[in-house]
Amino acid sequence: MREELYKIKENVIKMLSEAKSLQELEDIRLKILGKKGELTRILRGMGALSAEERPIIGQLANQIRSEIEGNLFAIERKLSAWLLEMKMKEEVIDVTLPGKRRYPGHKHPISLVADRVCEVFIGMGYSIAEGPDIEFDKYNFELLNIPKGHPARDAQDTFYINEDVVLRTHTSPVQARVMLSQKPPIRVICPGRVYRADAVDATHSPVFHQIEGLVVDKGVTMGDLIGALQTFASLTFGPKTRIRLRPHHFQFTEPSAEVDVSCWECDGEGCRLCKHEGFVEILGAGMVNPKVLEMCGIDSNVYSGFAFGMGIERVAICKYGIDDMRLLFENDIRFLEQF
Ligand code: DAH
Repeated sequence: MREELYKIKENVIKMLSEAKSLQELEDIRLKILGKKGELTRILRGMGALSAEERPIIGQLANQIRSEIEGNLFAIERKLSAWLLEMKMKEEVIDVTLPGKRRYPGHKHPISLVADRVCEVFIGMGYSIAEGPDIEFDKYNFELLNIPKGHPARDAQDTFYINEDVVLRTHTSPVQARVMLSQKPPIRVICPGRVYRADAVDATHSPVFHQIEGLVVDKGVTMGDLIGALQTFASLTFGPKTRIRLRPHHFQFTEPSAEVDVSCWECDGEGCRLCKHEGFVEILGAGMVNPKVLEMCGIDSNVYSGFAFGMGIERVAICKYGIDDMRLLFENDIRFLEQF
């Protein structure tokens, strides 16, 4: 038993000299001094010894036990200090290293233009109204005086969910929704995404964006429309910008006009950008057709209104001099970074 005790001690010393972690130290402690540990087992077996041997071996075992405990404690302290030191060394931060550059995103040019246009009209007292992209035929066409089978539908072919539900072809259905749910005075702008069954080319996309405007009140005239659009043009394209109205036809306005702005590049002289016109077409507008007012529950003998609608991509293309609409949808960072 004596030899066994010395062997245990020797073995512990060897194991301790090789231990590299606090967990290993704990394992050694359990292996020797734990409930089922080697030394514990010997101490338990003392009863089998003779009366002379028992105190001698007992003393030796206790001595070895306290030596082992002392060693364990000392090594644990040394190891902890060493581990801490290593950790500190490993975690040193070199403040002279260059930082990792982050690239914050920014708004897409379509959002920039939409926000800007909305801001301009909010400044004139308009509020924002929205409607669904998936729209009833009733709002998209019928309440805008475009009944089923009417040729005006040809120019706005779209994607049909069923007979009565379409992907909206313009933001004009929001006009109908607003008139049906609010009483005049009404002054809203309606930005949103619209859809048409058009093939993609430099000036067309089956998905694009529009902003609609609607004002309904007593005594609203074409002069009010021109004033609002002139203010919009000056604030969007620069203070020198002039607008020009050309007679046109829309089912939901009467009279109707197409509205051009003077070319910001040549100021109306004529250049490559405006195709030597001096003006660039930017939106459609007119006085709300009394038929539309009536269909939407507004007395056309008391109230009148004007409306306009513009393509956001078109404004963006003009404002930034972009020559192909597809660039706005391709999400090429090299392009988007420039805004
Ligand atoms: N909804 C028309 C389109 O998409 C644009 C438009 C023209 C809207 C005249 C209007 C308007 O509100 O008065 O082509």
